[in-house]
Amino acid sequence: MSKEKIAVAYSGGLDTSVMIKWLKDKYEGAEIVAVTGNLGQQMEIDNLEEKAIATGAASFHFVDLRKTFVEDCIWKALKAGALYEDVYPLATALGRPILAKALVDIAFEENCTILTHGCTGKGNDQVRFEVTFASLAPHMKVVAPLREWEFTSREQEIAYALEHNIPVSATKKNPYSIDENIWGISIECGVLEDPMVPPPADAYQITTSPEEAPDKPTVVDIDFFEGIPVALDGKQMEGLDMIVKLNELGATNGVGRLDMIENRVVGIKSREIYEAPAATILHFAHRELERLTLEKSVFQYKRNIGQDYANIIYNGTWFSPMREALDAFVDVTQKPVTGMVRLKLYKGNVTLLGRTSPNSLYNEKLATYTEADTFNHKAAEGFIQLYGLGLKTYSEVNLK
Ligand code: ARG
Repeated sequence: MSKEKIAVAYSGGLDTSVMIKWLKDKYEGAEIVAVTGNLGQQMEIDNLEEKAIATGAASFHFVDLRKTFVEDCIWKALKAGALYEDVYPLATALGRPILAKALVDIAFEENCTILTHGCTGKGNDQVRFEVTFASLAPHMKVVAPLREWEFTSREQEIAYALEHNIPVSATKKNPYSIDENIWGISIECGVLEDPMVPPPADAYQITTSPEEAPDKPTVVDIDFFEGIPVALDGKQMEGLDMIVKLNELGATNGVGRLDMIENRVVGIKSREIYEAPAATILHFAHRELERLTLEKSVFQYKRNIGQDYANIIYNGTWFSPMREALDAFVDVTQKPVTGMVRLKLYKGNVTLLGRTSPNSLYNEKLATYTEADTFNHKAAEGFIQLYGLGLKTYSEVNLK
């Protein structure tokens, strides 16, 4: 039997650590290639290489995906206005296809024979990884150890890890399951499983509670060019730096906490809380600039496209012709979305102070109720007669 070479999407957590040993037992003599993607997460990224090798990996790759994540994914989602079920800015969901693609790229380079990930059998992430594998590497074998293996609890995994000298830090008890990247943090499990229980203070990782946030508001000016944020308080900025800065300012002011019951791909309703300060601020600002610059029918139609786009991201079909087709539509809509939005961040809220654009469709001469008014009031009369004619005819026939 020829030896397998297995590419593992590795996080350094309990599941993926145990996985390495488990795979080496199951596929005797298999060589493990561990791959971690940098999507701007802050937690648990130290000593990953050391840890992966000590756990039994033959090699380790740390791939910096931050720039491509921001520019090729996050900005597309922002321009589309993609909020899943009107709330979730999709941080985890956007990250998965990018991690999966990085894994596939390395698997090809290293001539791996199997792709694996550490997602459970009841979540969305297994779908996102494996659908991406199917799109990008349709002939590659895929194994999902967590759907197959004998462990039924974290305790059993920890016992296995201890027994096989696998270094894990999971013995310290963290009651939550947390996924983190630059676009937001997803937090579930523990007491959060009861939808009536408000999130305990320790569930939040980066945001100050609105009650403890400063009494003085923070004002920010955000400049957009064709739907993409390009400057903060008048200073040009790379996307990555902008998101880092807005996460900081938002978190300080208690902005970006979300608590949501959502519909998973696999049919389960789940409760998850999110912290997404920059995403909350940028979606709000972007939408306000669209109100100013988009033609009415485009503005209204685009809302549906945003929902479709959010579903594509959530459901794991990022690498698809449908997403590319929607991108083409969205990009056309974004041509006039250039301008500046001034916001106030204050005790958990983002409020609007002002907006301006060279492409503004707001015409004061038409809107004003002063002498400067140029709107043709006479024209309204004929318009209303014809506009209401159908209903008038209907009521003449049907009203007794
Ligand atoms: N519910 C979110 C999604 O499906 C996040 C999933 C991962 N959550 C976590 N706490 N690990 O995109």
